[in-house]
Parts: sequence; structure tokens; C-alpha cells
Amino acid sequence: MRTFEIAVIPGDGIGKEVVPEALKVLETVADVHGGLKFQFTQFPWSCDYYVEHGEMMPKDGLNILSNFEAIFLGAIGNPKLIPDHISLWGLLIKIRREFEQVINIRPAKLLKGVTSPLVNPNDFDIIVVRENSEGEYSEIGGRIHKGEDEMAIQNAVFTRKGVERAMRYAFELAKKRRGHVTSATKSNGIFHSMPFWDLVFKDVKEDYPDVDTASYHIDALAAFFVTRPHIFDVIVASNLFGDILTDLGGAIMGSIGIAPAANINLNGKYPSMFEPVHGSAPDIYGRGIANPIGQIWTAKMMLDHFGEDELGKKLLKVMEDVTGDGIKTPDIGGKATTREVGEEICKRVRGLA
Ligand code: NAI
Ligand code: MG
Repeated sequence: MRTFEIAVIPGDGIGKEVVPEALKVLETVADVHGGLKFQFTQFPWSCDYYVEHGEMMPKDGLNILSNFEAIFLGAIGNPKLIPDHISLWGLLIKIRREFEQVINIRPAKLLKGVTSPLVNPNDFDIIVVRENSEGEYSEIGGRIHKGEDEMAIQNAVFTRKGVERAMRYAFELAKKRRGHVTSATKSNGIFHSMPFWDLVFKDVKEDYPDVDTASYHIDALAAFFVTRPHIFDVIVASNLFGDILTDLGGAIMGSIGIAPAANINLNGKYPSMFEPVHGSAPDIYGRGIANPIGQIWTAKMMLDHFGEDELGKKLLKVMEDVTGDGIKTPDIGGKATTREVGEEICKRVRGLA
């Protein structure tokens, strides 16, 4: 029996509604598998916790989390109680940075029964591998002078180590999928970093002769997300390009409520963190209508991470059958509640046994 110790942080708002559904699904998956067990330890760290304790998590919070194999998170944020930059930096960003979660993966795939805003979406199935530790998101630079002479310099940082590990991750992923990697570049306009990015891409691809590649400038690539998303398999992108591209990916999927994500630690020193793309949705919290698919798909990514890809694949198929049969929350045009969707998925997972 393999037991996985998971730290669970439901967080705020609908995080508290969708996480329990995903945990039920994971427990059902473990039952069906037979040789797998999840040990969940819940932490109440959130904006409510901040109101009571004056901090988003205890001083030794990271230390506590470091003992787990993975962190499963709902959403953080309650702008009525705490300004977003305090809640975000006090928990989520702290975990991503301190735990060296250097890769962010976000799939964008059309699910059966979910309408894309694209007229002709053509069954796309993309994974964006976003470099999550450097690039355009650096604190290097500064501002001087005031008034007419005022200026700001923002430096982007691209290291061979950082770029190469993101690219290798993308190639390894592509080998398990349809064998194609697209590089998001902008070497026509950005003089130093993007030609360097292209060079590293060329070097890395030599180690993967069986993987086909393409390279597009980010502006054209963004347009292709709208006009022909089905041509992509795995895309590797810098921190900023990946950030923008994955929001577009979520949009063409039809609802932010179904988009999953994972922050991956590659050196094995710290746990990885699995959290859906959406936030705490205060506008619908408490009504029981939040879409749990994003959180459950995120659980599927955690299964993949644990090497249970076959199980993950089956779970995704079940989710698609459920949306395909019209058992959907209102954000994707259905009438079902959060719990009804969660329970239907559990029921069908049990049917796999
Ligand atoms: P949001 O993602 O919470 O909501 C945006 C819109 O999408 C809302 O209309 C909401 O009702 C809808 N929505 C989101 N998830 C849904 C779901 N599962 N089912 C159905 N509809 C869903 O983003 P917003 O409103 O900008 O932020 C709300 C709070 O969440 C803020 O405090 C923000 O800082 C935080 N946030 C946290 C994130 C995280 O924890 N990773 C990510 C994004 C925002
Ligand atoms: Mg973003």
C-alpha cells in the first residue's frame, strides 16, 4: 500500500466548497485502486485565519508543510477582509517561491459538453509549461529621478539553468503525449533574452530527436490560440508569456471554473503544490454552485505527479463523461450544484472498479 501524505489548504470562499468534493473524489479513486491511500491533513490558513491571528499562516507554516508530499490548495483571497496583496504574498506566493516550485503547468483542453467561446474550437488539447522562477518577473531594476526625468528600469533574468529545465520538462511531457513542443519566443523584438531562449531551445531539442518542434513569436502564438488552438501539444514559455497565454487558455476552455494548474518542485527538496486557476469567487460563495471540475482536474494532475497517470487519465474521462451528459454547474450552462457534480463523478469512478 502506497500512502501519500497531503497537506490540504481549502483557503477562502469557494475553495471551501470545491476542495471537499475533490477530496471525496481522491478517496474514491484510492478505494477503486486498492493499493493507494491518501492521508489528508487540513490547515485552516486563510483570510479568516488572518483576522484571528494577524498572519496568513503560522511562523513555522512552511516548516510544517515541508513534511508533506504535496500541497492541495483551494483558493486564497477575501478582499472584504484583507487586501489581496497581503493574503496572496502571505501564503500562496510564499509557498511557490520558498519551495522552489520552478515550473507551472496549465492544461487547456476542450471538455465534452462545455461550450468554448470559439466558433470552431476543433478539439484542442494543450499543456503550457511556464517557467515559474525567473524571466520577466524579477525584482532587479530600479527607479530614479522625479518629474520629467523620472525613469524605471526592469530587468528580465534568463539563466541557462532556469530556461533549460523548463524546456526539458516540456520535452519529457511531450514524449508522453503527442510528441510536439512549441517554443514561445519573441526574438525579433527582444534583443538579448529571446535569442538566448531560442539558442537553449535549439540545444535542448537535440537531445529529443523523436519530438517535433515549432517556434512562434508570442504575438502570433496568442492569435493562433484563438484561430487554431488544435495545432498545439506542449508549449514552453517564459514566466510572463506563459502567464498571459494560460489565461487565454482558460478563456477558450469555456470557464475559469474548470481550469487546473500545478506548481512543480523539480529538485525533490520541497513538496509541489496543486491549485486550480480560479480564485475564491466571493460573488458566488455560499450558494453551492461553484464548479468543482477545476479542483478535481487539479487532483488529477496530482495523481499524474505521483506516477498514477493511468488512473489520472480514467478520472479525466469520467469528468468529461459527466459534463458531456449535461451534469454541469451554472457557469458552464447547467443546473447542477457543486455537490451533485462531485457525487456524480464519485459514483462513476466507483463504477470503474
Ligand atoms: P475568481 O477566479 O475568484 O472569479 C472570477 C469570476 O469567475 C467570478 O465571476 C467567479 O464567480 C467565477 N468563478 C471562479 N471560479 C469559479 C468556479 N469554480 N465556478 C464557477 N464560477 C467561478 O477571481 P476574482 O474575482 O478576480 O478574485 C476573487 C478573489 O480570489 C480575490 O481575493 C483574488 O485575489 C483571489 N484569487 C486567488 C487565486 C488563487 O488563490 N490562486 C487566483 C485568482 C484570484
Ligand atoms: Mg495570471
